Amino acid sequence: MRNTTILLLALLLTLLSSSSTWPPPLTACAPGQHCDDRAAAGSLPSCLLATGVRNFSLAGSPAYDALLNFSIQNLRFALPAAGAVPRPAAVVLPRGRSELTSAVLCARHASLRIRVRSGGHSYEGLSYTVGDGGDDADRVRFVVIDLMRMNRVRVDAASATAWVESGATLGEIYYAVASSSSSLAFPAGSCSTVGAGGHISGGGFGLLSRKFKLAADNVLDAILVDADGRVLDRSSMGENHYAKSKSDYVRSPIARGAVAAILRYLAGGPAGYVILDPYGGAMAREGSGDTPFPHRAGNLYSVQYGVTWEAGDDGGGGGGGDGGGGGGGGEARMAWLRALYAYMAPHVSKNPRAAYVNYVDLDLGTNALAGNVSSPSSSVSRARSTWGSAYFSPANFDRLVGAKTLIDRSNVFSNAQSIPPLQI
Ligand SMILES: *[C@@H]1O[C@H](CO)[C@@H](O)[C@H](O)[C@H]1NC(C)=O
Ligand SMILES: *[C@@H]1O[C@H](CO)[C@@H](O)[C@H](O)[C@H]1NC(C)=O
Ligand SMILES: *[C@@H]1O[C@H](CO)[C@@H](O)[C@H](O)[C@H]1NC(C)=O
Repeated sequence: MRNTTILLLALLLTLLSSSSTWPPPLTACAPGQHCDDRAAAGSLPSCLLATGVRNFSLAGSPAYDALLNFSIQNLRFALPAAGAVPRPAAVVLPRGRSELTSAVLCARHASLRIRVRSGGHSYEGLSYTVGDGGDDADRVRFVVIDLMRMNRVRVDAASATAWVESGATLGEIYYAVASSSSSLAFPAGSCSTVGAGGHISGGGFGLLSRKFKLAADNVLDAILVDADGRVLDRSSMGENHYAKSKSDYVRSPIARGAVAAILRYLAGGPAGYVILDPYGGAMAREGSGDTPFPHRAGNLYSVQYGVTWEAGDDGGGGGGGDGGGGGGGGEARMAWLRALYAYMAPHVSKNPRAAYVNYVDLDLGTNALAGNVSSPSSSVSRARSTWGSAYFSPANFDRLVGAKTLIDRSNVFSNAQSIPPLQI
């Protein structure tokens, strides 16, 4: 019987991911598509028509307003008074993977930015307008790719899985699931007109989540069209099941010679990555004590170091060592990452050496968990001298300890790097 057990459904999602450089080269062409026609087409409509996309509406044409309006859920962006809101050059409604790929490539070929809309529920209208990009918003030309025609839901009750297209609404998913079985459900949000794509890619909290986790936690596979028109699924994206990340902040420029040495060091290691994210800007207008997140003014950029590997990888590569112990090949990579982190110490923030809590790193120190009873005051001081200050700054950490002590003195919610309470 599956009466009370709510079995979980896998989702195939057809999503668009925006990535890579801008403006992009036209690099990919799905089999059977008229790439030459597309490349030759000088404009969005001729490119779309040449590649078989017939359902689209250009600004000023009769259907345009109604199509654009159809999924504007936030009336801040729909009322006529919102005349200042930038509007897309076209609304394109692809059906199926091939049309979707064409829509993406044609938009890029026409130098239009792309907004992807599933249900249109973005609070800031991000799926159908621009205006988040600073003062040139009204000069940004863009197209809305609306996925409302990509709303198929196919449920296989026997295996308790489903394929769902990104433009399906949660209501359409629930209806299809309920039609196929009286004992299956999918844990996602409670608003029936929200589109699956955006909802699930943001996590997808719902009323079943405390028991069955987020919608995203129940996704088994996904098919995506990337910004180059490539169709990716789980295997072509790579599993990246195993990963290790560390982070730093840089507050003063690293000298050119040191950068060259760092690059040489990187070149000798296994395949890893280093991501530099610029800081400052509006982030720096908040004081470092205004929120727990302290990395405000004075930070030039964050550094994220990472290595990933898959089961069976032997972890070596380049100057890396042997496969090491039982880490499925990861030990050598993690050792290299730790060595890189040590190597970077002279160039990054100090006292504390700061880190980003979302790249959570237990190397920075952990709470003594059950089994080793240490005095709470020593937990606090140990955390404060290590990860607590790195993530939050000493002052913010002290305030968090104060709040924790007030809210959860007996430390019910705890993990290896949870804020420890003070014993009073
Ligand atoms: C385009 O798709 C919309 C939504 O499914 C539909 O209402 C409309 O009739 C279609 N237009 C054409 C020309 O097929
Ligand atoms: C779009 O929707 C808004 C809100 O319902 C409405 O006031 C407006 O007239 C609509 N515009 C068009 C062109 O349909
Ligand atoms: C507990 O303490 C012992 C001795 O200091 C140590 O070896 C062990 O790793 C600790 N265990 C935990 C879970 O912290």
